[in-house]
Amino acid sequence: MEELRRTSRIAILASGVGSNAEAMLKHFAEGSGADVAEVVWVCTNRAEAKVRAVAKRFGVEDSHLKKVDIQKGALLEGLRARQVDWVALAGFLLKVPEEVCEAFAGRMVNIHPALLPKYGGSGMYGMHVHHAVKEAGDRLSGMTVHLVNQDYDEGDIVFQGEVEIAAADTAEDIANKVLELEHRHYAQVLEGLIRLAHGWDVRDNTHLKSHTS
Ligand code: GRF
Repeated sequence: MEELRRTSRIAILASGVGSNAEAMLKHFAEGSGADVAEVVWVCTNRAEAKVRAVAKRFGVEDSHLKKVDIQKGALLEGLRARQVDWVALAGFLLKVPEEVCEAFAGRMVNIHPALLPKYGGSGMYGMHVHHAVKEAGDRLSGMTVHLVNQDYDEGDIVFQGEVEIAAADTAEDIANKVLELEHRHYAQVLEGLIRLAHGWDVRDNTHLKSHTS
């Protein structure tokens, strides 16, 4: 598998803290992901986003692009200039422009903190999701990795991980359980997709299998 080494280039799009970005940077710098890809760019729409410091810590280029510029083509330009192959959204709160969705169809993933198709769509992000799950009295939540298309949270689902919710769990408890699951699986799932795209058999590993913790 030597020929697979670092053939793919990943960009991470994020707007906030970047804990998933951090797990991904780590996985592709030091984990099994380092055999197949590297993160070459972290791009944010918020100048002060904490994820920028995370990127710097890993020695990865970080940029801030304004919403208006993203909408005018700067994101696609930036991805092309850096010869990016795969895009991972990790808490990116802007709608991805149509031309980026088209250019990266099947090669752009997002992570959502619930078991889609439940609790998805416009306005369903962050704690809004976990409060809705709590209010509904669900005993199961989790995380979903899906391909990104024009519609919020509606792309094909490639992976779901589940967590049980205890009756006493608050929305914050649910958020913590789900976040832990995200950190554990997101980068691993992207690695699995990249390996599949290269035609490497993934039947014997756990990249694309669902787990209940
Ligand atoms: C995660 O919960 C993810 O599911 C959602 O945004 C959150 C990002 O958190 N899309 P972080 O910035 O990675 O800590």
